[in-house]
Amino acid sequence: MFRVAIVCMSDKGSRGEREDLSSQVIEKIAVENGYIVTKKVLIPDEFQVIKDTLSEICDKNHADLILTTGGTGFSKRDVTPEATEAIIEKRVPGIPEAMRAYSLTITKRAMLSRATAGIRKDTLIINMPGSPKAVEESLTFIIPELKHGLEIMVGSAKDCARK
Ligand code: MTE
Repeated sequence: MFRVAIVCMSDKGSRGEREDLSSQVIEKIAVENGYIVTKKVLIPDEFQVIKDTLSEICDKNHADLILTTGGTGFSKRDVTPEATEAIIEKRVPGIPEAMRAYSLTITKRAMLSRATAGIRKDTLIINMPGSPKAVEESLTFIIPELKHGLEIMVGSAKDCARK
């Protein structure tokens, strides 16, 4: 069973001014797909706080997968992709490309998400947009293929041949 950490970036959420519905959506979809949620964190849209939070989860091996929500748009405070890219060791462009390709079939505004993904040590980090609707649409599409990638990342699968 792979372990998931859910990290929500939201100034309002971290001040208790907005309920974090997006993390609830992520948790539900993750559990339905056989993941165990080991950590849920709600932090402000602060570059250094995001970097420190993501690095710590990876470096202490608290999760195999980190799913972030929020901070991928155009506002001055949206810095999730930059903070993620500052701490990853390998880029994984195909996952955000897939999320955007699918999401564009639902709304053209999907082009406005700057979400990124990458690997640090033994943890895959994937950014998702902030709204519960966007999270549901994006995660439902990518989640069936993630397990295979995680198995290769942690070394429990060696080849991609389908049985
Ligand atoms: N992706 C999907 N699947 N569905 C959506 O409704 N909304 C878009 C986009 N991606 C959306 C989506 C919008 S309106 C924005 S502004 C960006 O995600 C960035 O969102 P964020 O700033 O909350 O991260």
